Amino acid sequence: MKLLTAKPYLEAKKNSLETRIRNLKARGITPCLKVILVGEDPASMVYVEKKRTTASTLGLEAETLKLPSTLSVSELKTLVDHLNADPKVHGILIQRPLPPQFKENEVLEWVSAEKDVDGLHPMNLGRLAQGNPKFISCTPRGTIELLEFYGYSLKGKLCAVLGRSPIVGRPLSQLLLYKDATLIQVHSRTANAQELTRQADFVFVAIGKPKFVDRSYLKPGAVVIDVGIHRLPDGKLIGDVDFEDVKDHVSAITPVPGGVGPLTIDSLMENTILSAELAATPV
Ligand SMILES: NC(=O)c1ccc[n+]([C@@H]2O[C@H](COP(=O)([O-])OP(=O)(O)OC[C@H]3O[C@@H](n4cnc5c(N)ncnc54)[C@H](OP(=O)(O)O)[C@@H]3O)[C@@H](O)[C@H]2O)c1
Repeated sequence: MKLLTAKPYLEAKKNSLETRIRNLKARGITPCLKVILVGEDPASMVYVEKKRTTASTLGLEAETLKLPSTLSVSELKTLVDHLNADPKVHGILIQRPLPPQFKENEVLEWVSAEKDVDGLHPMNLGRLAQGNPKFISCTPRGTIELLEFYGYSLKGKLCAVLGRSPIVGRPLSQLLLYKDATLIQVHSRTANAQELTRQADFVFVAIGKPKFVDRSYLKPGAVVIDVGIHRLPDGKLIGDVDFEDVKDHVSAITPVPGGVGPLTIDSLMENTILSAELAATPV
């Protein structure tokens, strides 16, 4: 069984990202990412800090705007409008979950599609569905790039996606279609889920249930991408897949931690650099 870890991929890619940043800086442009954190969700605070430090280490300008959970809808909208209008800002990310006064789908439309480095604006999701992507949502993009780095081609392959959230499952399925894969989309109302996913060469799991997927969902030799992240009371991280149960059954699997998580952040960096490059390109 092969462990599909993110580290070798990120090391191989670092040089090309740094070169793109240097080229932009030589033209007087520093790619700039603004991350908006509303409230004090502990997991979000960790993710946001990781995004900021990764960006700073790479040479991007990055700032986290920390706002109280009592922030009003109009105050957040005003802030996003201000960032949309600032030509020095190339990427805007609003960290989820948001406090209950916000409707997430509505907020996703506030960030300009040109600065939507999270790839979740309906325009960017629509472009992906149309087969003409620009900013691809970060987690789906990271998973596919990792597989390609390890030499897998998805063309013509049967891929099962467990989960259909707007953040992971749906854009991932669209991206797989874009990559010429054939798709089985499974969700909580799917009948005979195991029977369906057992046919697949590649199984992507994003259901938000710790250790839920065992070998009964997988054909022998399948390649498994575990998107799930759950923190146990002792601080240990685990995925949606029961790693111990499947490890001798599959041919390859992404570990948790050290698999999909770092790729999501890497995709965010790349989308921010892309946004700066596009903004600097004469139309
Ligand atoms: N690594 C990263 O960077 C990263 C990024 C984002 C998310 N995550 C993790 O990925 C996981 C999924 O996140 P999410 O935001 O997509 O979660 P979510 O919004 O809760 O969506 C879960 C999806 O899984 C489906 N589902 C639930 N139980 C199922 C079952 N038994 N069989 C098949 N499908 C089932 C749900 O179906 P219905 O639509 O029918 O309800 C839903 O579509 C979480 O563990 C999250 O922490 C990781």
